Amino acid sequence: MPSVLPEGQPAPSDGSLPEQALSELPLRPLGIYIHVPFCTTRCGYCDFNTYTAAELGTEPGASRAGYIDAAIHELALAARVLGRDVPAVSTIFVGGGTPTVLPPDDLGRLITAVRDHFGLAPDAEVTTESNPESIDSAGLHRLRELGFNRISFGMQSVVPHVLATLDRTHPPGRPLRAVAEAKAAGFTNTSIDLIYGTPGESAADWVESLDAALGASPEHISAYALIVEEGTRLAARIRRGELPSPDEDDLADKYLIADERLNAAGLAAYEVSNWSRSAATRCRHNLGYWRSHHWWGIGPGAHSHVGGVRWWNLKHPQAYASRLASGQSPAQARELLSAEQRRVERILLELRLADGLSTSLLTTTEQSRLVDLLARRLAVIEDGMLILTRDGRLLADGVIRDLLD
Ligand SMILES: C[S@@+](CC[C@H](N)C(=O)[O-])C[C@H]1O[C@@H](n2cnc3c(N)ncnc32)[C@H](O)[C@@H]1O
Ligand code: SF4
Repeated sequence: MPSVLPEGQPAPSDGSLPEQALSELPLRPLGIYIHVPFCTTRCGYCDFNTYTAAELGTEPGASRAGYIDAAIHELALAARVLGRDVPAVSTIFVGGGTPTVLPPDDLGRLITAVRDHFGLAPDAEVTTESNPESIDSAGLHRLRELGFNRISFGMQSVVPHVLATLDRTHPPGRPLRAVAEAKAAGFTNTSIDLIYGTPGESAADWVESLDAALGASPEHISAYALIVEEGTRLAARIRRGELPSPDEDDLADKYLIADERLNAAGLAAYEVSNWSRSAATRCRHNLGYWRSHHWWGIGPGAHSHVGGVRWWNLKHPQAYASRLASGQSPAQARELLSAEQRRVERILLELRLADGLSTSLLTTTEQSRLVDLLARRLAVIEDGMLILTRDGRLLADGVIRDLLD
């Protein structure tokens, strides 16, 4: 959840949604994202909507202690707005920020509130993100007892100089121990986040990080090319010439290294940046975003989508909490997507998935552009689905542009 919000049109103060959007509720699963906007320190590359204790100060409504109450308030509002036709929630994803700076029992209150307000499907996927240094074995046991069944650790790298450039504070071996502790606590669905292309990272450094991550045997790995976000410390250091910019060719080489090594270890890409050991351990919550399901994003700056209506909340935790305290929706603005916007969005998202995009979604002109993509071996068509090859995934943004232009 990058911190710059789009503009959009005004959102109703009671959070209400058009009948047309509500009528689509029974047609697709509903996921709940809950943003925890707190971190102990800010990493120099990170643009997410998150705050250290010093940045938040002591103003009322902005404290970590009161945050869960505000989030539960928004859950109650969501249940009122969605009404009786709402399906039981199929996925919960508590993300950040660093959710595990809050005590496990606080995070457990969120699950209870979702269950009370919406009902939780018996096979629901319930994930929390975690920074490996922010949780210990007892905390992991408690999270599991409280109902979390998936955990995603931010590891990024195992190489000390890369971690230092990224401002990561954990000792290099901590994420791997955290995965082992999570497994011992009963988590059968663990994930690790990695970043490649950090200035100064060699190909050998990247292989070392991949192999270390694989050594922990997680069920899932996300590997992201480092994005230099405007306004971050990393961007300033690059501008001043202290660090080189990530290099496109280096990023491409590292993507191919990742895909080969992860495949060899039994993890297959099911989305451009996400690899899973089996279909059952793909992140169902994120698949909901890519497949245009319904999701309600709880928390400051969180985005939501229900039946073609997209909206996003006020960014600052204090503004967010005070809106809810006055009985109003914390939404800042919203967009009502046209049928054509929804179609284009599906192309943008579904083409990134290994399951591919139904060619029936494409116009005649777009279909005529497929010949070139297929000839360049950037994609194949199987059973009416357009599927990117490894080279196509590497150039995914360009392929999608070529298809839509
Ligand atoms: C926003 S973080 C939240 C989880 C947790 N706080 C952490 O850092 O591990 C989720 C993931 O986004 C990725 N990420 C954040 N900023 C990024 C950037 N500028 N470029 C690439 N990946 C980034 C990192 O891999 C991170 O683990
Ligand atoms: S810990 Fe995660 S969310 Fe927090 S600043 Fe670092 S990358 Fe961003």
